[in-house]
Amino acid sequence: MSTSPEKPVLIVFGAGGHGRVAADAALFSGAFARVVAADRNPAAWGTEMLPGVPVLRPDELSALPAPLAVHIAIGNNPVRRQEAARLAAEWPLAQLATIVHPSASVAASARVAPGCLMTAQCVVGPMAELGEGVIVNHGAVVDHDCRIAAWAHIAPGVKLGGAVQVGEAALVGAGSTVLRNLRVGAGATLGAGAVLLQDLPDGAAWAGVPARPLALASA
Ligand SMILES: CC(C)(COP(=O)(O)OP(=O)(O)OC[C@H]1O[C@@H](n2cnc3c(N)ncnc32)[C@H](O)[C@@H]1OP(=O)(O)O)[C@@H](O)C(=O)NCCC(=O)NCCS
Repeated sequence: MSTSPEKPVLIVFGAGGHGRVAADAALFSGAFARVVAADRNPAAWGTEMLPGVPVLRPDELSALPAPLAVHIAIGNNPVRRQEAARLAAEWPLAQLATIVHPSASVAASARVAPGCLMTAQCVVGPMAELGEGVIVNHGAVVDHDCRIAAWAHIAPGVKLGGAVQVGEAALVGAGSTVLRNLRVGAGATLGAGAVLLQDLPDGAAWAGVPARPLALASA
């Protein structure tokens, strides 16, 4: 007789808007025994982030039963990366949870590292790779062979053509399009609604159609 592994209790760190999106996807996924939230801001403690998802106080968190899973629901990429490192030291036994909304389409051949969030209606194509803590937000398309480095955020409605590379902690803004084979640099920002026609350098902020450095985009 086979025994199915016990579902973990999920702690969503970050009780803001992005936390609500992550918790909603986690509830829909059915992958967790229970979903609770945590936040550094004491004003959030004792309230509900969503119906049925309480924001627990620190002493209540430490009383939760194993197995535990944690998900860092912070939209700011560098802060999300930093909080993951802090929580790994603080909660060494908790696993970093990946959350997949049931309406997300994730290819069987895609490789997804721990801590990712794939929300409603997104698509992750064949042979695509998502590094640790990547967000693929509502309705975004990460097409075949794309490589998204750790802690990057692919915002709602983005379209990444095939084999696009996105560097660590980059933000690809809502509704933007990146043509195939291009690279968005590490720590770079592509503005909402942009169309990227050439590589975006590390740390740069570009916007517009076609995308150009931000000061030029508004000229
Ligand atoms: C590109 C972006 C990062 C710039 O933010 P910012 O540095 O605060 O810039 P500002 O809002 O001060 O705007 C600076 C100038 O760029 C222009 N600009 C800002 N965003 C733009 C965009 N997406 N496309 C074209 N022009 C843009 C502004 O109109 C402004 O022009 P001005 O100097 O002529 O007035 C931001 O506007 C953006 O698009 N962020 C993406 C947000 C997103 O998708 N988040 C995901 C949520 S889930």
